[in-house]
Amino acid sequence: MRSLLGDYLLQRLQEDVDGTLHQRLFRCLRIAIVNGILRPQTRLPASRDLAQEIHVSRNTVLSAYEQLQAEGYLEARTGRGTWVAEKIPENYLTPHQSQQNISEIRNKRVLKLSKRGSLLVGYAAASPNQWGAFVPGTPDVTEFPHHIFNRILSKLNREPDVDRLIYSNAGGCFELRSALADYLRVARSIRCDVDQVIITEGIHQATDLVSRTLSDHGDHVWIEDPGYWGVRNTLRVNGAIVDPMPVDIEGIIPDLHPKKPPKLIFVTPSHQYPLGSHLSPDRRKQLLDLARRYGSWIIEDDYDSEFRFSGQPYPALQGLEADAPVIYMGTFSKTIFPALRLGYLVVPKALFSPLRIASAELYRGGHLLTQKAVAEFIREGHYEAHIRRMRLLYGKRRKFLIELIYRYLGKAYLHEFDEEAGLHLVLKLADGCDDVAIASRALERGIYVRPLSQYYMTNHSQAPRGLLLGFACVNEKDMMMAFGNLLQCLREQGIKTLS
Ligand SMILES: Cc1ncc(COP(=O)(O)O)c(C=O)c1O
Repeated sequence: MRSLLGDYLLQRLQEDVDGTLHQRLFRCLRIAIVNGILRPQTRLPASRDLAQEIHVSRNTVLSAYEQLQAEGYLEARTGRGTWVAEKIPENYLTPHQSQQNISEIRNKRVLKLSKRGSLLVGYAAASPNQWGAFVPGTPDVTEFPHHIFNRILSKLNREPDVDRLIYSNAGGCFELRSALADYLRVARSIRCDVDQVIITEGIHQATDLVSRTLSDHGDHVWIEDPGYWGVRNTLRVNGAIVDPMPVDIEGIIPDLHPKKPPKLIFVTPSHQYPLGSHLSPDRRKQLLDLARRYGSWIIEDDYDSEFRFSGQPYPALQGLEADAPVIYMGTFSKTIFPALRLGYLVVPKALFSPLRIASAELYRGGHLLTQKAVAEFIREGHYEAHIRRMRLLYGKRRKFLIELIYRYLGKAYLHEFDEEAGLHLVLKLADGCDDVAIASRALERGIYVRPLSQYYMTNHSQAPRGLLLGFACVNEKDMMMAFGNLLQCLREQGIKTLS
């Protein structure tokens, strides 16, 4: 007789058809674990039994079990079998909150979620902890000049304008689009007019809009590996076949003769996420030529380019050539605050109308008062002044963190791709080091770091190890305390510290 798990897997395997059998089995089991269908400490059937039940070879089951074990979802007890781990990687988000998510999902009978919904929930990686040492990518929201912004908002509120209270169908508030076009031409060397700028609710939404409007189910889309999980999950849920492209110190290494050319190519040219290099001039050229040859769109995610602490900022890829096949995405999440939920797209002229219409159809669009306030904030010079001030502050915090790393761990621990930019850095760990376990121990001590290996899409078990440390939202005093605690976690994992 087939077990419940056997029935569940057979059903799921029919729905999840991408990739090899062992990859599909791995995904189905992982989703079952993350969604709490297989609870911590549940014993899994012997590989031979499961293979028989679901009509696959024993090696397929063994490979899926091995990969789940390498990624921290399963534990093998020699001679006794295989169990779901007590703490799975998602637990490093926060123990209580992820447990709560899991039981909520279970209570809502996750089996009834659509295939798309299950993928989205199963691969969800947003951390519930968005503030504190060392949350990567969070700016210091307490430093924002709220009094100035609130003054602008209250003034606008006193003169309500019908245009700002109805749905937006124009790609966002005209004043903001125009202020951004002026700002981006100078600050990022972008070639644009106001009629190429569309306001979004951030890069996540822009990714959803672009992938839904410009790619079809089953189209190939390239992303960087390692890369930003948010983009990866959005693409996957929209039915793209996501092809990971490796990254080196010059940025993405494109496949110059692809068998299946990509519809879209997602890149972070000014500061590769998460490793930190910038896309070299040769690679920029290669990528543009390749996109022109295959009729692909390059999607340039310029999420934190404002923060480069030495030398000149690298201009955006979008501005390198006239009529470049590039869609540029920017965000106010790092420069103002993430909860503002405002970002922007700069699109080739021919795409403005379809993308504006698609955006209105999908999301309707609103927050026009806030958009107008941001436009005034930019026009009055406060935006650039704030960025300048934060660049100094984050530069100091980054330097302080690097000094701690050098002093207590050594220079080799700073990732070699690191450039003086962004809101986080990568602490490099030796191959084979369990970065997921370290992140999980750190979380128990109230320190939020993310394991580098989890940003890789391919070959998880061989992925380079490290920790992402955000420095922007932590002052020096808190950083020192948190770093001391982190050192303790590293020592517990057998890593020698210098003092
Ligand atoms: C590479 C990258 N792109 C985009 C985003 C998110 O942007 P938004 O808040 O505008 O959706 C992040 C967030 O940290 C990021 O790291």
